[in-house]
Amino acid sequence: EREPLVDSFGREHTYLRISLTERCNLRCTYCMPAEGVTLQPKGHLLTTDEILRLVEVFAGLGVTKVRLTGGEPMVRKDIALLTRSLRALGIQELAITTNGVAPRNRYEELVAAGMTHFNVSLDTLQFDRFAAISRRPGRFLETVLGNVALLAGAAGGGGRVKLNNVVMRGANDDEIPDFVGLTAGQRLDVRFIEWMPFDSNGWNSGTFLPYAEMTARLQESFPTVVRAVDGPHDTTKWWQVPGHRGRVGFITSMSQHFCGTCNRLRITADGKLKVCLFGAEDLSLRDALRAGGTNKEMAGMIGKAVGLKKFSLGGRADMFALAGSKNRPMVLIGG
Ligand code: GTP
Ligand code: 5AD
Ligand code: SF4
Repeated sequence: EREPLVDSFGREHTYLRISLTERCNLRCTYCMPAEGVTLQPKGHLLTTDEILRLVEVFAGLGVTKVRLTGGEPMVRKDIALLTRSLRALGIQELAITTNGVAPRNRYEELVAAGMTHFNVSLDTLQFDRFAAISRRPGRFLETVLGNVALLAGAAGGGGRVKLNNVVMRGANDDEIPDFVGLTAGQRLDVRFIEWMPFDSNGWNSGTFLPYAEMTARLQESFPTVVRAVDGPHDTTKWWQVPGHRGRVGFITSMSQHFCGTCNRLRITADGKLKVCLFGAEDLSLRDALRAGGTNKEMAGMIGKAVGLKKFSLGGRADMFALAGSKNRPMVLIGG
């Protein structure tokens, strides 16, 4: 008989995000500096067996949804094996957030292995802008678009695909109507994300575009659009253009945070538990495992850390205070 992961504000944590690697094949400006970040030696990162041990513990504590993140999770070679093993452990909802750059056959392999949900990061539909934002060849966009079409189609396993678009004034904000247009004929949701400050991502208020302004632009181009219903633990405020097959969403971390319904925990690639995206990392699950911790001992430590979770934003007054504070670069957290 195990206690569910309930914090002191009554929030039950059933969703675990696991970062599989610190590496990425892109260098997106909003995520990391041009030169990349200092990578830890491989021995510091969790092995696949360690990840499976941890998920076994978390599943025992009530976690039912796992999302694999990075860096770019597809950079990890054994991801299909990990996918099969996680499904075998009983994880029903198994998701990934990817940049869509890996070859098509690797996504086909993942669908076959049992991945149920795909979020694909895509900030522009223009080749020159893709190169400017990702600091990698613009032709990669063609691969991404092919993979999105694959995953949105019937062969993609029938699961819904969501596009993640980080909106930055002057960089890609004029493409909002084009992205909304993608939801017309495909089973594809598009989410516009308020750009958040993290270490060395060049965040500034001048290029930040708030939710209110994004929805004003949406309504201007699609006057019939209506506000839709959100899921109980959704990061997203959903809208729907009548007649379109997919939805349009907004992730409003900056202007209207959604901490009150948070059900997420995170594990970094080097095995630290993050009870909040913006929180401290006081517990190394990796070290506890390597010191021979039993599942029961691990469960105890995790429960205690969740009990100390702050109500919002890792205890900060507001999101804008983050711009001047120390965190990890986004690439080392995984969103
Ligand atoms: P779903 O599982 O489909 O709900 O996806 P998600 O929105 O949780 O995750 P995804 O990896 O696609 O991230 C989309 C955006 O939401 C990124 O900008 C993340 O940084 C942001 N995000 C995810 N979880 C949180 C969170 O707990 N707090 C905040 N503020 N932002 C988050
Ligand atoms: N602000 C908001 N979202 C971000 N992402 C990366 N960096 C940022 C940021 N600074 C998004 C990516 C990816 C997800 C994991 O996080 O677009 O889809
Ligand atoms: Fe890589 Fe994703 Fe960061 Fe872009 S946002 S650099 S794709 S980890």
